[in-house]
Amino acid sequence: LRGKYITAVSAAEGEAALEEVRLAALGKKGEISLMMRELGKMDPTERQSFGAALNRLKDEIDTALKARKTALADAALDARLKSEWLDVTLPGRPRALGSIHPVSQVMEELSAIFADLGFAVAEGPQVESDWYNFDALNIPPEHPARQEHDTFFMHRAAGDDRPPHVLRTHTSPVQVRAMLERGAPIRVIAPGRVYRMDMDQTHSPMFHQLEGLAIDRDITMANLKWVLEEFCRAFFEVDKVELRFRASHFPFTEPSAEVDIRCSWAGGQLRIGEGDSWMEILGSGMVHPHVLRSGGIDPDEWQGFAFGMGIDRLAMLKYGIPDLRAFFESDLRWLRHYGFAA
Ligand code: PHE
Repeated sequence: LRGKYITAVSAAEGEAALEEVRLAALGKKGEISLMMRELGKMDPTERQSFGAALNRLKDEIDTALKARKTALADAALDARLKSEWLDVTLPGRPRALGSIHPVSQVMEELSAIFADLGFAVAEGPQVESDWYNFDALNIPPEHPARQEHDTFFMHRAAGDDRPPHVLRTHTSPVQVRAMLERGAPIRVIAPGRVYRMDMDQTHSPMFHQLEGLAIDRDITMANLKWVLEEFCRAFFEVDKVELRFRASHFPFTEPSAEVDIRCSWAGGQLRIGEGDSWMEILGSGMVHPHVLRSGGIDPDEWQGFAFGMGIDRLAMLKYGIPDLRAFFESDLRWLRHYGFAA
């Protein structure tokens, strides 16, 4: 009997099999339990020796069951440890990190610089009515400036009586929106996308501008000059900048000036604030009275300056990038080359 059960215990390959052996020997109807019950029918001397032997056998099987159970659990744990083994000394898998596009970086930088100068950020739609894009800015329908803007027109089906819309050709319409929304006094910038049918090394049909507008009771071009100089010092990270205001013409400013910055191009390397070259960086002027009126502001009480600059161009200058179009090709190799992607 002992041989039978001890063998069965060591042959059991799992908890369930082991439990079967236990029930067969020691369960209520197990072989040994039944024999225990037979003890009562025996005479006292026989019962004593047989009972003791049975008890010993019972203990022995019990001990063997426990030992086997522990051994099975250990084996199971070993197997798990082996299969779930993890080499913590392996190098990690590289993760591709996203990063901010250079134009967005410059846009954020510009917004931060102008925030320090007290300018809030204003916005307008990229699909703009031609009233905001042109008429309100003193560019009436037959004005030659309309042709110069290489405008993308939104298609209108016959019978569509909504006002004509265009992809905004500059951020200047936001000037008028800001006036109508905020009223004077105003100090805002408006960075954003603009569109013109133009494509070469320095032009993309979609590009970015930053508009500036300040309106108050006694704003003059001296304020404009100071703001632009402070801006250039901060953006180009130089102590001294020299700006040149060149008389120009925009329908929405009077007088108008294009602004150049003193620089040098030595060995293809741009240096701001020194040298004998001038580089155009923006258009500007005093807001035309017609434009103030479009914005519901009385030109006899308020004056202002406005300026507009190309953000992509500034990014090209700052990072020494020769071809504007590369900005919009999303080529990771290019972005990595200029340190804009990991
Ligand atoms: N809107 C002009 C352009 O796109 C720039 C400009 C803005 C000029 C504001 C003067 C004042 O060229």
